[in-house]
Amino acid sequence: MGKIIAVVNNKGGVGKTTITVNLGHALTNRGSDVLIVDMDNQCNATSNFFQQVPDETLYELLDGDGLDPGKCIYPTPYDRLFFLPNTEDSGGLEPLFMAREDRGYSLLQQRLRDYVNQKYDFTIIDCPPNLGLFTLQAMTAADFVICPVTGGSKYAAVGLDRTINTIKYVQESLNPSLRFLRLVLNQIDRREGVDRAFITSAMINYPGLVFDTMIPRCTAVKQAEALGQTVIRAAPKATATIKFRKLALELLDMFQE
Ligand SMILES: Nc1ncnc2c1ncn2[C@@H]1O[C@H](COP(=O)(O)OP(=O)(O)OP(=O)(O)O)[C@@H](O)[C@H]1O
Ligand SMILES: [Mg+2]
Repeated sequence: MGKIIAVVNNKGGVGKTTITVNLGHALTNRGSDVLIVDMDNQCNATSNFFQQVPDETLYELLDGDGLDPGKCIYPTPYDRLFFLPNTEDSGGLEPLFMAREDRGYSLLQQRLRDYVNQKYDFTIIDCPPNLGLFTLQAMTAADFVICPVTGGSKYAAVGLDRTINTIKYVQESLNPSLRFLRLVLNQIDRREGVDRAFITSAMINYPGLVFDTMIPRCTAVKQAEALGQTVIRAAPKATATIKFRKLALELLDMFQE
């Protein structure tokens, strides 16, 4: 039985897409079959994997009914890694969902969950930087939530109250089996006092809920993004690559217990 992980933070630019893609790739290197779902109609993850948006995407999966999920899932240049792309047009579905009595919160769960649970060890859903309908759909379909957070300035705060409240709301009303898994601290430089303070604050506020593995600020991440590759492929020895591999091991260990 596969596990579905939603990567959520209503704050933008904290590394949701970077972590989705690289954790996904790192898990495949450990023998897992992984599906990445782009739930964000900014389509950053999609444009990392596709020059052109393919015909069948998340839009077609969520619109209408009856599309075989396999039709909108594609192989990637990475063994064992598969991708369900998004299109900017999917934003247009939101008013249609809002007009439904059930708001369409369960649509992704209904249309994808059984299928992916049988085919993939992990399905990782890259969410948009808000707690709107698409994030709620992702959380309703998911087993676990991972929240990336970034340090880097004296104003950096873990700031997850709204995200945590939304997880609680989903647990109470839409998906009782959803679990907050861990925070992942991204863009961390332990030589910086502000980042050390940030780590301390995360540990105090979320005891036992922070991945031991933290992702360093690393120029190779941006370079890889420009090349349309994972940092794991573009820079196998980069500090971020080493940590993404470690993060994958830490996650796998967690599910061994
Ligand atoms: N560890 C890192 N080191 C260096 N750059 C990073 C790191 N993590 C992310 N970045 C860069 O920061 C930017 C934001 O990252 P990313 O797109 O993953 O965030 P996001 O949370 O998905 O953003 P959005 O909310 O807009 O979807 C990107 O340009 C990415 O390359
Ligand atoms: Mg993103």
